[in-house]
Amino acid sequence: MALAAKGGQARGGSAIALPPRDEIASYHLVEEMRLVGGLIERAIYTEDERRRTADLARRLVHSARAGRHKYSGIDAFMLEYGLTSEEGVILMCLAEALLRIPDTETADALIAEKVGSGQWSKHVGASESLFVNASTWGLMLTGHIVKLKETKGASIGNILKRLVVRSGEPVIRQAMRQAMRVMGDQFVLGTTIKDALKRAAPLEAQGYRFSYDMLGEGAKTAADAKRYYERYMTALEAVGKAAGKLTSAHPDALMERPSLSVKLSAIHPRYEPGKEARLDVELVPLVIELAKAARARGVGLTLDAEEQDRLDPSLGLFGRVFTDPALDGWAGFGLAVQAYGKRAIPTLRWLRRLSERSGKRIPVRLVKGAYWDSEVKWAQERGWQDYPVFTRKLHTDVSYLACMRLMLSDAQAFYPQFATHNAHTVAAAYTAGGNAPFEFQRLHGMGEALYEDVVGPSKLGRACRIYAPVGGHEDLLAYLVRRLLENGANTSFVNRIADEEAPVADIIRDPVEAADLEREKGIAAGDPLQPSPLAIYGETRRNSLGLPLSEPDVRAKFADEMTKALEGSFAVGPLVDGKAITGGTEAALVSCPHDRRERIGTVRTADAATIDVAIASATAAAHGWDRVGGEARAAILDKAADLYERDRARLMAVIVREAGKTFENAQGDLREAVDFLRYYANEARRLFTAPTVLHGPTGETN
Ligand code: FAD
Ligand code: 2OP
Repeated sequence: MALAAKGGQARGGSAIALPPRDEIASYHLVEEMRLVGGLIERAIYTEDERRRTADLARRLVHSARAGRHKYSGIDAFMLEYGLTSEEGVILMCLAEALLRIPDTETADALIAEKVGSGQWSKHVGASESLFVNASTWGLMLTGHIVKLKETKGASIGNILKRLVVRSGEPVIRQAMRQAMRVMGDQFVLGTTIKDALKRAAPLEAQGYRFSYDMLGEGAKTAADAKRYYERYMTALEAVGKAAGKLTSAHPDALMERPSLSVKLSAIHPRYEPGKEARLDVELVPLVIELAKAARARGVGLTLDAEEQDRLDPSLGLFGRVFTDPALDGWAGFGLAVQAYGKRAIPTLRWLRRLSERSGKRIPVRLVKGAYWDSEVKWAQERGWQDYPVFTRKLHTDVSYLACMRLMLSDAQAFYPQFATHNAHTVAAAYTAGGNAPFEFQRLHGMGEALYEDVVGPSKLGRACRIYAPVGGHEDLLAYLVRRLLENGANTSFVNRIADEEAPVADIIRDPVEAADLEREKGIAAGDPLQPSPLAIYGETRRNSLGLPLSEPDVRAKFADEMTKALEGSFAVGPLVDGKAITGGTEAALVSCPHDRRERIGTVRTADAATIDVAIASATAAAHGWDRVGGEARAAILDKAADLYERDRARLMAVIVREAGKTFENAQGDLREAVDFLRYYANEARRLFTAPTVLHGPTGETN
């Protein structure tokens, strides 16, 4: 019996076969530098294009800087509280924690720990931006209250600390929540779709388009997912009504109208790799219904790009819905592609094939990607051989330009939607795009000043769609954290443009030229490649290898290996001195917890006599083992770790079969064992290789 469903390729109703996705899969964890050369080739400009791009980018930066004062933006806020400052980090912690902590006790405990260490007073009045002052006010409120009551002269931080200790949490909590709300409001167009539509109207009159995103993601329960789905349906109704009747059948006419952006993780609680069969039955029909409703109202529908793990399921699902007969001839269903993903170019090639097969143009929103920090951390945690995303900002920029070129080269297949707040990226798209149909996109609350110079007949005359989150604070958290990370990162364009000290030439540096130069001269120290996920423990030990079981081809291949490893039967018994002990207790049958009829083998446990022999033998060997020394013992542990990794399929298969664990759980168990072995090997080297002089008057060594 096979161990697992292979999953991966969407099955089902439509007559059009989906193109295979194996080329995409093969790029998943490719070494970064192997891709960069090809991307540079794809992204390269003519001299004339390069000059025009640079001129335009410079102009955009100058006027965006001049116009920024009108917008009390988050970028100014993050410049004030950079992520490198203690307060910035505290704010991040609080933004992440406070909005989701349901009980006040825990919120207070967090505040007690974090607020006391910030030096808020330093920031008061340091920025002219209203937004910064508003947030600082929220933070300072507590300070002022404290000051009124407490002695003069002490620092705010100390006073806060004292106040917190003396159970002042509720007051501080209110103030902090207020500050978080100020930040949240920056990014949400309205708490209801009605409010959002009202706020959108004046901008639409200026030539902006909108894509409404009903806040919510990562639904944990079917009830949550249903709630989010219904919100989308209600929003579609309202957006369609506000947009009026679609009067032209030309696909460009649809693009001029509002659209909806959907996160699939919001509308299904198990939207994850390995669940493809279930998603085919449960999620695909939901999205088809949404798309049909969108079509009926002349509103476009875009699937957001989420975590890289979800790329393959999202493409399977996109293909299934896109080719559904109910959507024949409708070119309003699109998706976002993340240029920071190593699979971006093959994904676009796949979409192009899909478009050819179905005869429909695909609106593709090209983004750099919003989950970078998490992707890097997850790859490290999972012990993958490499990252699914680029680890240098420069390479993401080059990848974006390469993707842009590919999309612009085929107007039949793509309606490009360039989503960026980076003036150089905007200028490059404008220059390369010529007269081709495409639009820009920005997020609500970001890039306002930049796009003032783009939208409108007296400007660049290019449309820009505003991605507009709609919803309450309770659903904002994850989105807010991504925006704070984006604004706070010192590699981010929005962060750098807000820093008046940063020279324009640096901010608009051409990534293609810079990457090419680096290929010749080597990578500069400032923005290095991340160490491989296997090398994150540096010299101390190698990380335990993990397979990316999220990927259908890896999962299927590994499931086959596990099935083979289980051929035959296991007869397990005690080993003493490396020898199998026969006799003793009776062999017990071991079967699978999910199906007791399925047998794995037999187990004999050690009887009392065998245990006595084992203990005597271990006692006799202890002295010799001590004398072996740290290095030799470490080598044995390292060897054991390597053997565990070599025999991973067999070991994991037994864990899955005998303990009924999932593949991921089984892999976690195996990797934990490997990690322990390597950890203690390192400890043996560290502690047992040479004598340690003990502190004390007698000069003993251990
Ligand atoms: P830049 O400052 O030029 O680029 C910042 C980006 O570079 C980071 O976000 C990251 O992607 C990348 N980066 C940063 N550091 C590194 C590094 N060390 N190595 C490699 N890459 C790095 N994102 C999604 O994931 N899915 C979506 O569906 C989505 N929809 C969006 C819709 C709109 C309209 C917009 C404007 C953005 C959307 N985003 C989405 C967010 C988007 O990914 C970020 O806003 C975008 O990456 C910022 O890029 P930039 O060109 O504005 O800024
Ligand atoms: C995000 O949710 C905008 O989709 C992007 O971060």
